[in-house]
Amino acid sequence: MIDEKEMVPYMAGEQWKSKIGFILAAAGSAIGLGAVWKLPYVAGTSGGGAFFLVFLVFTLLLGTSLLLAEFVIGRKTQKPPIQAYKELAPGTPWYWVGILGIISSCLILSFYAVVGGWILTYFIRSLTGGLTDPPEGNYGILFESIISNHWEVGAAHLGFIVITILIVQGGIQKGIERASSIMMPALFIIFIVLVVRSLTLDGAMEGVRFFLQPDLDSLDGQTILFALGQAFFSLSLGVSIMVTYSSYLSKKESLVRSASSIVGLSILIAFLSGLAIFPGVFAFDLEPNEGPSLIFTVLPAVFNEMALGSLFFTLFLLLLLFATLTSAFSLLEIVVSSVSHSNPGRRRIAAWAGGLGIFILGIPSNLSYGLLSEWLIFGDIFFNQIDFLVSNILLPVGALCIAVFASYFIKRSELREELLRGSSLGSGFFSTWLVLIRYITPLAIIAAFLHVLGVW
Ligand code: TRP
Repeated sequence: MIDEKEMVPYMAGEQWKSKIGFILAAAGSAIGLGAVWKLPYVAGTSGGGAFFLVFLVFTLLLGTSLLLAEFVIGRKTQKPPIQAYKELAPGTPWYWVGILGIISSCLILSFYAVVGGWILTYFIRSLTGGLTDPPEGNYGILFESIISNHWEVGAAHLGFIVITILIVQGGIQKGIERASSIMMPALFIIFIVLVVRSLTLDGAMEGVRFFLQPDLDSLDGQTILFALGQAFFSLSLGVSIMVTYSSYLSKKESLVRSASSIVGLSILIAFLSGLAIFPGVFAFDLEPNEGPSLIFTVLPAVFNEMALGSLFFTLFLLLLLFATLTSAFSLLEIVVSSVSHSNPGRRRIAAWAGGLGIFILGIPSNLSYGLLSEWLIFGDIFFNQIDFLVSNILLPVGALCIAVFASYFIKRSELREELLRGSSLGSGFFSTWLVLIRYITPLAIIAAFLHVLGVW
């Protein structure tokens, strides 16, 4: 028997208690607003099934490859990002990829928590009956009035961050793993209930057709780019979060098998969200292309129409809350792990300082739906600009750097050993992965990037 300590000489901190705990936590990071909120509305506005199909192909080929690259970096070094890049490429500036990842994660969490706060507000209101009677019977007006009510959404924004801090400060096993192991199975069960309810509505099939029947005519460059960005965003790639999570994974586990489970679960949930949302939208003759407010304005109207609707809507909000929280854990954990890696005693203070700092950073995003709604930066509100900066610039740059770093700057034999450790796959798999990560992923990202900048 090889002694575990000898195999992993620099294991300083905690590890996931079980492989399934790791998979649930990483799937929890991946499954979030991207799958449950963004995917349905982007699919709704960009051609339904065709969008979903392209998203699926990108996720399976490019997303999975990049996920594996992040896993290799994290598990090989067993260190958080900055330290991991420093160890793999000493004396080079590659550790900036880690710094960029941390900055991007803080920015993502800053607006993510605002939406988390909206969900929390809706959830509390749904429990207290505050959603059943919208002004003038219009949920759009209700949504506007809620999100421009600073004190209520401000308190909810803070509440969401505090829940995140409380879990993350508990550590990997007792905090993130335990919470994810409760929230993720609950999320799946609620989803199944909602999908059954949604598919049994009269006229549900029209929604299913809209979501699943690809209308290839509606595919244009823009849709393809959105799908690429969406594939990376919804696997939490490009900011080294998966480097962080895999740094806590035992050397005994197979990276490929874990990655397949995580990607499989994410795709399943993306699929279930479409099936939960579109049938209702069509059954009640509402518009699928409502945009970002789809789940806040259209869905309450859908649920309002059905028997026991308010119960189902409360369940849906609970599901959204779980999905959003498990993603928020990962966004805060990357900050906390970088600070407390060498000194686990600093975890608590790092979680509070990081979390509250991110809350403050998010205040302008929050206010951009109220007090600051007139404050436009390059013609759009702060919230949307931060989302744009992260999704279209920082994430693609981060993803590109990680793909290039892993495939050109880590020795081929070491890459191969870490990637295939604990799995029965052979050279064929390794070479295919290398081609995807070395050539195809960077080219796709560069093409997308140039397009966003209007160069191409
Ligand atoms: N993947 C999450 C979602 O789909 C969001 C998220 C968490 C994320 N961590 C990330 C996105 C890191 C990009 C990078 O909602």
